[in-house]
Amino acid sequence: MLLIGNHPGPPVVVDLCCGSGAVGAAIIREFPDVELHAADIDPAAVQCSRRNIESVGGHVHAGDLFEALPPALRGRVRVLTVNAPYVPTEAIGTMPPEARLYEPVVSLDGGPDGLDFHRRIAAEGIRWLASGGYLLIETSQRQVAGTSEILAAAGFAVRTAHSEELDGTVVVGRLGAERV
Ligand SMILES: C[S@@+](CC[C@H](N)C(=O)[O-])C[C@H]1O[C@@H](n2cnc3c(N)ncnc32)[C@H](O)[C@@H]1O
Repeated sequence: MLLIGNHPGPPVVVDLCCGSGAVGAAIIREFPDVELHAADIDPAAVQCSRRNIESVGGHVHAGDLFEALPPALRGRVRVLTVNAPYVPTEAIGTMPPEARLYEPVVSLDGGPDGLDFHRRIAAEGIRWLASGGYLLIETSQRQVAGTSEILAAAGFAVRTAHSEELDGTVVVGRLGAERV
């Protein structure tokens, strides 16, 4: 999957909304030759991910979504992984206490329908992905249709993957070989 595009050098992988950096660290462990960049807006998350990612050769950036990334990565990203906040604002109060009381709101609140970040990431992501690049975005079973429609409308070819064991759902979008 990573051997796509024509850019020289190691494949660029970006993990946006990286939190502690667990996803990026797992990617480097599995694919040690990638150039891994991770970014988050929360200073505590950035500090934590620096410990987990820079120690294994990755790069960590602070800021609002793509604004955090070095401009030189534009059009070069082969794989973009994202677990952005996707809880609808009004549903935050109904979450289990371990999330509601101990997770910062900035890591949960996805706006009125929970999909505000998915809209921004689909629209802005096409300018950062290489031709043929992949966007993998975590969502919920209830929101999978909405996330899929957002990616399709932005020009991605879309499929979904679900793990019963992990109770995890990911929408996978591939940007066509022709830039859209
Ligand atoms: C649901 S958590 C996911 C954390 C991590 N990726 C994981 O899977 O464990 C969402 C993360 O998005 C970050 N975040 C929220 N708004 C952001 C923004 N505008 N730009 C970048 N990161 C943001 C939060 O700080 C939080 O770390």
